[in-house]
Order: sequence, then C-alpha cells, then structure tokens
Amino acid sequence: MRKNILSNRVNFIKDSATLRLNDIGEQLRSKGADIINLSVGEPDFDTPKFIKDAAKKALDNGDTHYTPSLGKPRLRKVVAEKLKKDNNIDTSYENIIISAGAKHLIYMAINSIIDEGEEVVLLSPAWVSYEACVKIAGGRINWIKTNIEDQFQPTDIQDNINKKTKLIVLNSPNNPSGAVYSENTLKMIADLSIDYDFFVLSDEIYEKIIYDSKHISIASFDQMADRTITVNGLSKSYAMTGWRIGYASAPKIILDGMLKIQQHSISCAPSFVQEAAISAMSGPQDCVNEMVSEFKKRRDFLVDGLNSIGLRCLLPKGAFYLFVDISDFAEDANEFSEKMLKEGYLVMTPGDAFGPGFENYIRISYAVPIDKLKEAVKRIGNIIA
Ligand SMILES: Cc1ncc(COP(=O)(O)O)c(C=O)c1O
Repeated sequence: MRKNILSNRVNFIKDSATLRLNDIGEQLRSKGADIINLSVGEPDFDTPKFIKDAAKKALDNGDTHYTPSLGKPRLRKVVAEKLKKDNNIDTSYENIIISAGAKHLIYMAINSIIDEGEEVVLLSPAWVSYEACVKIAGGRINWIKTNIEDQFQPTDIQDNINKKTKLIVLNSPNNPSGAVYSENTLKMIADLSIDYDFFVLSDEIYEKIIYDSKHISIASFDQMADRTITVNGLSKSYAMTGWRIGYASAPKIILDGMLKIQQHSISCAPSFVQEAAISAMSGPQDCVNEMVSEFKKRRDFLVDGLNSIGLRCLLPKGAFYLFVDISDFAEDANEFSEKMLKEGYLVMTPGDAFGPGFENYIRISYAVPIDKLKEAVKRIGNIIA
C-alpha cells in the first residue's frame, strides 16, 4: 500500500475542535447522562412555515434540476436589491453568486484569490473554517489578535499589515466573540485596504442577529465595493442551516474565479432551495425579529448568570455566543471544558479552536432553550464553587 495517501493540504487541516468533546458527550449520553450541548452553531428554531411552503411548491412544480451556476437570475436580483437597500452596497445583479451556504462561498473566494505562500490576515478569535480554507489554498496566515479590553475590535492592525498582505477576513457580528465592528474600525480597515492594496472578505452571516447595534458593511465605504467580497447566507437569519444556501457580492474578476470553482465542484445551489430563499428574503421579516428577541433574552440571562458566579464575560452585541475568560478557574480551556463535560455534562468549545491567544477562553452558545441555560449556569456554578 502506498504511503502518504493524504495530500499535504488535507494533512495541514486540523480536525474540528468540538469533535472530540462531542464524541465524549455522545458516549456519556448513550449511558443516560443528561447532556446540555452549549457548542451548537445553529439556531434551535424551526425554519418559518412560509419558507418551507415555497420550497414544497417549487418541488411540486418540478423545480428539481440544475440552475445556472451563478444562481437563478430572480434570486440574484433579490440579493442585489437587498444589498443595495439594507447594506448600502453599490452592487448589481452581475456581481452576485449564489451557492450552497456561506462556507462554500468563503472557500471559493479564498481559493480564487490566494496562491501558494500569499498572505491572509485573520483576526483572532476567528471562526474555525477561515484557517482551513487558507491552508487548503496554500496561503500563509498572519494572525492579528484582538483583545477583550477593546471589546474584541481590531485596533493596531496597521503595524502588522505589509505589502505582502493580499486579503483580510472580517466577520462582524463575530463568531465567537459576539463583537460588532464599529464604523471607525471598518473605516480604518477600508483605508488600509486602499493604501496597501489588499482585498477584504467580509463574512456577514450574523448580520441580522444583532442587539442594540447597527450592522455596517465595509463594502458600503467609498471604493470598497471594488475590493470586497461580501458573503452572507440564510442559515442563521432564517434558521435554514440544513438547506445550504448563501450568496456573495464580488468584483467581477473575483466572481469569475469563484464561478469556475463552483462549476467544477457543486455546479449550483439546489434549485428549489433557491425558490425558498427568494421567498425568505422577499417575505415578511417578523420571524427574524422574533428569533432575535428570544436570543436577546437568553443572552441577558446568561451573561448575568455567568457574571454572578464569577465567570467574566462581555455583553456581546451580536451572534449567539459568549466568549468567556476562564483563567481564574483552570490552567487552560481544554482542561476546563473536559471538567465541565465529565462533571457537569456540559459541552463547550475551547478557545484555542479560534486561533492563537485564546487558550484561556471558552465559547458558550446560547442557541439553546432558556430552561437549559438556567440548568447549565447552575451546574457550572456548582463545579467552580
Ligand atoms: C462566522 C460563520 N461564517 C459562516 C458560517 C457558515 O454558514 P453557512 O451555513 O451559510 O455555510 C458559519 C457557521 O457556523 C459561521 O459561524
């Protein structure tokens, strides 16, 4: 049998961080343990009925075949209108590509731009898949750490940017920190992008899950639509993670690159799901507001609950995670998470999954019903008391 079966590209990628703890959790659950999973990355709500109905209708109408690789023209138009109206982005139908989720769009964008050895700036803490996508492309990561003292807003980026930087990945509202980047922060990054001539990949998947704050798209700043790939999707806003549908607006040359990868990988996003997306984006938005107000209640409860038992965390402005400093209670987050799992039957994500500098943090998801969150706070309190 041949040695070196797996490619270096694959060998360089780490396993998903939550996998090991989830495995232990599943073993304990099979023995009857009452596991509470606080590592979930998806809304625990059902997809709204009117969206499901649109998909059913499309299926009944025989909408079960390939669509153009860029996506259905009607959906691309709805997306372009949305980006103009909600996000103030100067884009058009020709700049829109639809795909099977934001993740695949991020994968395609990075692989379209980055060659072997080229530099990508990631701001830690960062969602786990950016690192993997850059490594698959052969790129080099320049990690820039953000800090809890600055509410996880990037500040001293300038000293770490150089002429080799080709791309920076932004994610606001942020997974895992919950930070929402301010207008000043985004303006500072936009100015650097123009001065140093690098591109911006702006992952805005949590755009609508935001509390008492305003989401700003960096592509809305002067000259930035020509140097930004704005990625978004329906997974989080409409509780549609399993449907696999997302969209991006990109400069034409990058869009053409992404299109080539899409043509030779997944061909197109599922046809009837594209109809569901048209309906979700053009229909009543009360479902989004209801979900966000429930998340807000949970966030407030959990932050108060954790602070009251001595676990320090900020009140996040967006997404549905808390990023919690556990340095007063354990050597590192892996040790802390393992203890929480074995003694409290709680699954959490250790901070080292999100890049360097957060070995003493854990991510707790509140995409979990409030009665379970109450129970979780009680259990954590008992363990760390
Ligand atoms: C920051 C971030 N970007 C992108 C995604 C992927 O979204 P999608 O389901 O549209 O692929 C996730 C999912 O967890 C995420 O947290």
